Amino acid sequence: MMTTAVWILGLLFTVAVVQATATDLPIVIPAKRTVGTGTADEATNQGCKGNRIDCGGCNSVIMCNYQNQTVGSYDCSSLDPQRPYCTGKGICTSSLDPKCEVQSDLCPKGNKYFPVPSNCSESVYCTDKLQAIKVGGPSLSFVFNYTGQSWTARKTTADCFQINCLTTTMQNKFHVYKPYPQLYVYCGTTGPMTFLCEGENETFNEAKRTCEFSCLTSGNFAIPNDENKYYSCLPTSTGSEQFALRRVVSKRVASIQRRDLSECQTGRIECDDCNTVKICSYDKSVLAHYRCKDVDPNAPYCVGEGVCSNIPNPVGDCNKANDLCPTVGDSGYYPDPTNCSQYLYCDENSVGYEQSCVATNNVYNQTTSSCFLKRKSADCFQVDCNNSKNKDKWFVYTPSPQLYFLCSASGPVMFMCPRENHIFDLNLKRCEFHCSSAGRFAHESGDTMYYECAYTSTSKLEKFEQTCPPLLVFDRLVQKCVDSNTDPQQ
Ligand SMILES: *[C@@H]1O[C@H](CO)[C@@H](O)[C@H](O)[C@H]1NC(C)=O
Ligand SMILES: *[C@@H]1O[C@H](CO)[C@@H](O)[C@H](O)[C@H]1NC(C)=O
Ligand SMILES: *[C@@H]1O[C@H](CO)[C@@H](O)[C@H](O)[C@H]1NC(C)=O
Ligand SMILES: *[C@@H]1O[C@H](CO)[C@@H](O)[C@H](O)[C@H]1NC(C)=O
Ligand SMILES: *[C@@H]1O[C@H](CO)[C@@H](O)[C@H](O)[C@H]1NC(C)=O
Ligand SMILES: *[C@@H]1O[C@H](CO)[C@@H](O)[C@H](O)[C@H]1NC(C)=O
Ligand SMILES: *[C@@H]1O[C@H](CO)[C@@H](O)[C@H](O)[C@H]1NC(C)=O
Repeated sequence: MMTTAVWILGLLFTVAVVQATATDLPIVIPAKRTVGTGTADEATNQGCKGNRIDCGGCNSVIMCNYQNQTVGSYDCSSLDPQRPYCTGKGICTSSLDPKCEVQSDLCPKGNKYFPVPSNCSESVYCTDKLQAIKVGGPSLSFVFNYTGQSWTARKTTADCFQINCLTTTMQNKFHVYKPYPQLYVYCGTTGPMTFLCEGENETFNEAKRTCEFSCLTSGNFAIPNDENKYYSCLPTSTGSEQFALRRVVSKRVASIQRRDLSECQTGRIECDDCNTVKICSYDKSVLAHYRCKDVDPNAPYCVGEGVCSNIPNPVGDCNKANDLCPTVGDSGYYPDPTNCSQYLYCDENSVGYEQSCVATNNVYNQTTSSCFLKRKSADCFQVDCNNSKNKDKWFVYTPSPQLYFLCSASGPVMFMCPRENHIFDLNLKRCEFHCSSAGRFAHESGDTMYYECAYTSTSKLEKFEQTCPPLLVFDRLVQKCVDSNTDPQQ
């Protein structure tokens, strides 16, 4: 008994010390269970019903006279805190009566703390059976923090978010729980009900009364059941912590621009373009049209007399390689050198699918195949190939100089130097090794030679061609000439 008292004192003391310094405190599950919402008590309290001693509720015993009138009552915990629950005919026990295991409307799921919407200094612990155990904060200067599952020191009044469901303006409405918008509260006539958006990155939209995708961090996120689109969340200019943009980008937009629906040429059903079927009336006007891939994603091409197929029409421009795709056989993302906020996905047949940076002031970065906020004008590299002074001129795509392009009469044509560290030499009109950092690098002529890149002044990096000593070959891993008979890894 003595030791317990000392221990409790010690605990109180530690709590007091922690409270004075910490801004974030863990929540401690109370040892004694109390039914959080009180609804359980009401549900099971039927009053006197013929027994002289009975349960008045989940926690209390009542005494009855023969006229079924309650003549007295007491809380089980007042007799023995270890046996706080009333079961059967008014017997206090340590385990809750199953019918008292009332699920709380404040519990969207179990084994977690949830807010008490009306009081920011309180929380409920929801058990695996969705019973709520009310837990008060250490003091009114702490508010419940759902994200941290903790108590956080209140700095401003705005830190305390409360919903008073009792006011008529709040009744029968959904309210987003602003500190953690995945949670929302319905103010029902029996009190608040808490819900949690099911989708991992969804938040509640009060106006639409639905949970919807929301940018919580930057990145690209899949849209369930839609392979052709994804959410792109980009950091905004106000700082890396804010990810306000929520945009849907079409992943696959055919580079061949859809023509305006043209007049029908012949039959009742025909191809309008490579991917679209149109249905015509007898007077040759278009009644309807649909994209093949919307009907069957595996048969996206329109061929012949308006038939959707998995093989594109071999004639015509349906499977035309895009001149902005620099390599054949290698799929990947490439920049549009005429517009820094555009890029394209090139499939293995060099068919290009145009993409654009959705957020304002965002530009494409070839290294990451993603868009970023333009901070200085140099972040945007683009050449106006329509300008006559650029016609038939070659350019290096400076942000990723392995790429180079020609402003041809029919538009830009992209190329890529076949080797890394090679850059198109505008005078020699060929790809040449280029020093990007100090060190030794493989030579395209074979392994008896190598390039040495060295600083000749603090800012000048120069290229030297070297030949390996006789019988040695260059090993790019160790960056030197080694005996050709030894394992290069050694
Ligand atoms: C008391 O309640 C029980 C159960 O409802 C009933 O059977 C009994 O007749 C009641 N007695 C009186 C005096 O009303
Ligand atoms: C909120 O809960 C705390 C701790 O249980 C309590 O002291 C306080 O009075 C409550 N505030 C309101 C407005 O009910
Ligand atoms: C909630 O707790 C988390 C983790 O402890 C913390 O990062 C976050 O800043 C807290 N939220 C607030 C509003 O203080
Ligand atoms: C939710 O966002 C996290 C990163 O914030 C990500 O790892 C996860 O894949 C996303 N989930 C879905 C379903 O988009
Ligand atoms: C670049 O592309 C974006 C998005 O497609 C477009 O809004 C913008 O007008 C284009 N800029 C130029 C210079 O063509
Ligand atoms: C593009 O992304 C790479 C990799 O994150 C980064 O090192 C580079 O600075 C970015 N380019 C620009 C112009 O921001
Ligand atoms: C250049 O001309 C082409 C074809 O006329 C046009 O589609 C494109 O938008 C023009 N680009 C710019 C940047 O003006």
